[in-house]
Amino acid sequence: MVKVLFVCLGNICRSPTAEGVFRDLLEREALAGQVEVDSAGTAAYHIGSPPDERARQAAARRGVDLSGLRGRRVGREDFERFDLVLAMDRDNHARLLEMAGEQHARLRLFMAYATNFDVREVPDPYYGGANGFEQVLDMIEDASVGLLRELRARYHL
Ligand code: 4NP
Repeated sequence: MVKVLFVCLGNICRSPTAEGVFRDLLEREALAGQVEVDSAGTAAYHIGSPPDERARQAAARRGVDLSGLRGRRVGREDFERFDLVLAMDRDNHARLLEMAGEQHARLRLFMAYATNFDVREVPDPYYGGANGFEQVLDMIEDASVGLLRELRARYHL
């Protein structure tokens, strides 16, 4: 089983969206049994909370259900458990690097897998408008396709 963890700040907007979108893609490709997906946040504000309502509604419009997800905080032990830890932006990447220890090679920027977007960060949509959540979804869908291609090649899925 390959294990992938998506990480943002609050674990209520970007990373649960990535978890839901990537799991949906795996299900459509009949690979859900071979890849475990989870998400977490570097901050503690939203532990136990469901995803932001705006994120849930935007995902639902694309057929992705985020309603069962709950916020949790990332920890050092996640670098032992997950093969890939994918940060949504450079700030969170820097925080994760501090806890990664010897497993720092497991840490990447998620947008490094994107092919249509030439940016390396998913912008924080929390304080913006509804359009920010649509853009987050567009970016995450793009990077998810690239990530799946990488997993297929690396793990022969
Ligand atoms: P996320 O967005 O990191 O994509 O989940 C945020 C959620 C909450 C906060 C900041 C960003 N906050 O400051 O509470």
